[in-house]
Amino acid sequence: GPSAPEGPAAVLVGPMGVGKSTVGRVLAERLGTTFRDTDTDIVESAGKEISEIFIDEGEPHFRELERQAVATAVAGHPGVLALGGGAILDPDTRALLTGLPVVFLEMGVAEAVKRTGLDAPRPLLAVNPRQRWRELMEQRRPLYTEVARAVVTTEGRTPDEVADAVMDAL
Ligand code: S3P
Repeated sequence: GPSAPEGPAAVLVGPMGVGKSTVGRVLAERLGTTFRDTDTDIVESAGKEISEIFIDEGEPHFRELERQAVATAVAGHPGVLALGGGAILDPDTRALLTGLPVVFLEMGVAEAVKRTGLDAPRPLLAVNPRQRWRELMEQRRPLYTEVARAVVTTEGRTPDEVADAVMDAL
C-alpha cells in the first residue's frame, strides 16, 4: 500500500553485516535525501556503544531503546532509514513499520560469516558463527519477511547494484 506522506522513503531491514548502512547511504544519495541509522541514534542518545548497553543493561533494555528510536525515526525522518538487525524481534517495533516501504536485504551464511566473522566481530556471532547465524536467521527470517514489502539479495552485488535493486523493488 502507499506509504504515509511524511514517512521514510525506504526502510532497510536485514541481518547484521548485510550492508544496510552502506546501501542506505548510496540509496539516500540517489534519492537526494538523507540517511539515518537507528543504531547511531541509540548510541548518541545513550552516550555509549551498543555493546556496552547490552552488557550493562541487557538486550531487553536495548530493544526498548531501539523501539523508541524506530518510533522517533519513522515519524520524523523523510529519508532512508536503516534498522538494527534485531529490531524486528520486538512486536511493537514491527507494528511501527506497517504500511512503510520496508525492504529486507538478505545474504547467505557463507557471505554472512565472511562479512561479520573476522574483521568486525559482533557479540551475537562471536562463538560458532555459522551455527549462530543459522539459528538467528531461523528465528528472524519470518519476521523480516512479515514486515518487508520486498526482498533484495546482496549476494555478488556491489552496494550500487543493491541500491538499484532496492529502487526497482520500491
Ligand atoms: C543486532 C544488530 C546490530 C545492533 C545490535 C544487535 C542484532 O545492528 O543493533 O548489535 O540483534 O542483530 P546491525 O544490524 O546494524 O549490525
